[in-house]
Amino acid sequence: MLFKQQAWLRQKLLVLGSLAVGSLLYLVARVGSLDRLQPICPIEGRFGARSQAEFPLRALQFKRGLLHEFRKGNTSKEQVRLHDLVQQLPRAIIIGVRKGGTRALLEMLNLHPAVVKASQEIHFFDNDENYAKGIEWYRKKMPFSYPQQITIEKSPAYFITEEVPERIYKMNSSIKLLIIVREPTTRAISDYTQVLEGKERKNKTYYKFEKLAIDPNTCEVNTKYKAVRTSIYTKHLERWLKYFPIEQFHIVDGDRLITEPLPELQLVEKFLNLPPRISQYNLYFNATRGFYCLRFNIIFNKCLAGSKGRIHPEVDPSVITKLRKFFHPFNQKFYQITGRTLNWP
Ligand code: A3P
Repeated sequence: MLFKQQAWLRQKLLVLGSLAVGSLLYLVARVGSLDRLQPICPIEGRFGARSQAEFPLRALQFKRGLLHEFRKGNTSKEQVRLHDLVQQLPRAIIIGVRKGGTRALLEMLNLHPAVVKASQEIHFFDNDENYAKGIEWYRKKMPFSYPQQITIEKSPAYFITEEVPERIYKMNSSIKLLIIVREPTTRAISDYTQVLEGKERKNKTYYKFEKLAIDPNTCEVNTKYKAVRTSIYTKHLERWLKYFPIEQFHIVDGDRLITEPLPELQLVEKFLNLPPRISQYNLYFNATRGFYCLRFNIIFNKCLAGSKGRIHPEVDPSVITKLRKFFHPFNQKFYQITGRTLNWP
């Protein structure tokens, strides 16, 4: 009997010990290398009423796990009240460009403890039906966050949709706008590849890229083809500039975000007036994927979905040359307007 009791006690102690060690490891992982963290910087002084010192980034980082739980949809009204959670309208939006690396940019910015991402593309401003539901509907689509955090959403269709700049302006005329661009011809091929994959999934046949991008009658670039039109960045940007000054935009080099993400992210942190918190620790190259993946802490890391980083079909080099020549003057204008030269061919 005594022996049985001792064995039971030993077992209990072992379980308790493992739990303690597990919790300690979990805490270390959550806090990670955050000892150096400073208080959060305000975005144009529009953060909540509390003082910065009350909300060090360390605390925000620590609470991320909690926010993650809430995001799964299990938030009760009591928890929302208790933790002072809010659903905030975005203070920055990634407006495009489709296939520029919009998902990678959003996920990477979400590594920052002061940033909370809207996981889904909301399509509020480009979809008339959604827009008619009103701004409260939009706000309710946002994730829970602490008042000192900023919410960011991305819907790449915003960049090319006529009505969007005016609608966003009406919501917040001082919002920060992020545009991630890639070399226009590569972006057009990436766009085509995505559509092609969709067609193949439905067992449908589709034209070759060359046939769509070049008008067979004139042998010139087919400007009616959407993938080509979307890559004329300056045309779209000019529409936005009727509402917002250029200072409210930040251009992200999508090609560099693939090969060297950290410096691009640091420029965005600066633009958003956030203290630099994303470090090389948060980004590691995954040779199998051929892309950088995200490391939140020693336990949690992730790569983007397989639909990001598709293999492009081979395209006739003469078509590529023609397209690059076509985009060249538009690119020059884009560099001139934005003040960012990207050295595209
Ligand atoms: P490809 O599929 O043509 O390679 P978007 O999210 O706007 O649809 O952009 C998709 C593109 O993001 C991909 O285009 C890919 O090249 C790029 N990308 C940038 N960083 C990435 C990353 N870390 N992992 C996967 N894809 C990334």
